[in-house]
Amino acid sequence: MSSQLCLPPPEVSPFRDGILKGQVAMVTGGSSGIGYEITRQLGLHGAAVAIMGRRQNALDDATSALQKDGITAVSSRGDVRKSEDCARCVEAAQRLGSLTILVNCAAGNFLAAADQMSANAVRTVLEIDTLGTFTASRAAFSALRDSGNGCIINISATLHYGATWWQAHASAAKAAVDSLTRSLALEWGAFNIRVNGIAPGPVAGTAGMAKLDGGTSDKMLSMLPLGRMQHPWDIAIAAVFLASPAGRCISGDTLVVDGAAWIWRPLV
Ligand code: HXC
Repeated sequence: MSSQLCLPPPEVSPFRDGILKGQVAMVTGGSSGIGYEITRQLGLHGAAVAIMGRRQNALDDATSALQKDGITAVSSRGDVRKSEDCARCVEAAQRLGSLTILVNCAAGNFLAAADQMSANAVRTVLEIDTLGTFTASRAAFSALRDSGNGCIINISATLHYGATWWQAHASAAKAAVDSLTRSLALEWGAFNIRVNGIAPGPVAGTAGMAKLDGGTSDKMLSMLPLGRMQHPWDIAIAAVFLASPAGRCISGDTLVVDGAAWIWRPLV
């Protein structure tokens, strides 16, 4: 990944070793991109991890790489649109110990003009992003409640803060994810489950950027207040923060990690 696009991660974590020791995390969409780096950082900070995804090869590669980093890692193949698949991953995670962290990172997206999209195209993205977030959260609820220290982190976006060209489907899906974050925080707080979101801006080197940026990186960089995109580490370390005791009083919030990108407006 080019250092012009984003800053490399620091050599030493800003958090102390083992800050998540004894915790078990399940990460949907954890085999690649942002989800993989979130899994890796949770693991490097002491959590055992279970990743869920649709591609067996990607899961196998990710699990081996995590284990090479000294992380206790398992995988479970499945689709977040299916409750039985989510339940199977929760079971796999619980074999590692008491499940305390769920990260909903599985997402689907593409650029498409609203007048060119079928209802099924919109439904597909809503089902992966929004319903998938609910389905995985529902599947993990009992385990998180029984742990006495549950934490859900929903990976969202900033697309819907205003409106984003050719993203009607994903904007609606992520707006609903943010709403779920607040509703679940309200209802599940009584069980000591904290529910938060992270809204990344442009993250270098991800499938999302490849699909959505269309090779206009120079133009993109010139529009960013900090002049750079985020590294996947930037999103992952925010997840470590929210999952750690530093986040113990934070619930129902969505943390924007975008270097002020979404508030940018061109000078006329
Ligand atoms: C218009 C499209 C389309 C496109 C698919 N569809 N791609 N319509 N333009 N480019 C339509 C199909 O024609 C079909 O509708 C419907 O969507 C379902 O497509 P399938 O291929 O059958 O669905 P599926 O195999 O489940 O794949 C889901 C997917 C795919 C979302 C379409 O891209 C996927 O699996 N993506 C996962 C990985 C991914 O996208 N990661 C990036 C996330 S980035 P019809 O009517 O023909 O049946 C992200 C970041 C957001 O979320 C924030 C950015 C800043």
